[in-house]
Amino acid sequence: MSPSGNEQQKLSREQAIALLAFHVEAGVSDALGDEPVNRYELADAAAPAPEAAPRTATVRGARPDPRGDAAPAAPAPRAVPPSSIPLEDTQAAGSAREIAARCNTLDELRQALAGFEGCPLRYTAKNLVFADGNPQARIMLIGEAPGRDEDLQGLPFVGRAGQLLDRMLAAIGLDRTSVYIINTLPWRPPGNPTPTPAEHAVCMPFVERHVELVNPDILVLLGGVAAKQMLGTDTGIMRLRGKWTNVKVGGRDVPALPTLHPAYLLRQPAQKQLAWRDLLSLKARLQS
Ligand code: URA
Repeated sequence: MSPSGNEQQKLSREQAIALLAFHVEAGVSDALGDEPVNRYELADAAAPAPEAAPRTATVRGARPDPRGDAAPAAPAPRAVPPSSIPLEDTQAAGSAREIAARCNTLDELRQALAGFEGCPLRYTAKNLVFADGNPQARIMLIGEAPGRDEDLQGLPFVGRAGQLLDRMLAAIGLDRTSVYIINTLPWRPPGNPTPTPAEHAVCMPFVERHVELVNPDILVLLGGVAAKQMLGTDTGIMRLRGKWTNVKVGGRDVPALPTLHPAYLLRQPAQKQLAWRDLLSLKARLQS
């Protein structure tokens, strides 16, 4: 709840700064009003495109920032499509698949995503978060979606979760020159809610093509959302983690290791022992 006009006037400059600092510390990374705003409709009005037509919206709250910017996050109402995927999103997914299939290099894929209008998240994001790391690396990491820091910098895993990820990789002798990193969504969902089925429907064709073009020896799936998308399962990450599974990409079976998301480990540090086991399994696989 924001303070009323009278209460706002009572705040001194120092109090306002302290309040702002408190909000940032508490994980409030977006300025939102008390009433939900359908930003999909605003974006559509600003940049009408056949794939980004206005759609029925419902409102749902946010969860603690899964991207590790902070936890817990403030409630962040957001306009989302209903759970079934609306027709325009199915069409956008079809066109995403065709566009992605035509890309023969990573540069082409980046350009195609930059010009793709079928995902409304592109209108609220500040930057496209395409990838980071070495496309020649044997290991490709797939996270969930960019958070606030990633959106600002246009690079995946650069916030607190990313710093932990760097330390985890360093523990087994890896760094960003020896891995390649992407997310299941290349744009930040405002307020960091879990990506919707409609968002994944339009973005996953690009992810799958991305994996095909990079052609890694090993996939590491960071967290339940990436594991669910890449493995096509509803099984929870606690049951999936640490178990090698093959993912079929472009007709090839790629060994994939689901593990815990670094943002989860920031909230549940005791679970780092499980992540450590997974890292050792990854290291052993690399050496075998
Ligand atoms: N969490 C993710 O899943 N991806 C990022 O890029 C950052 C945090």
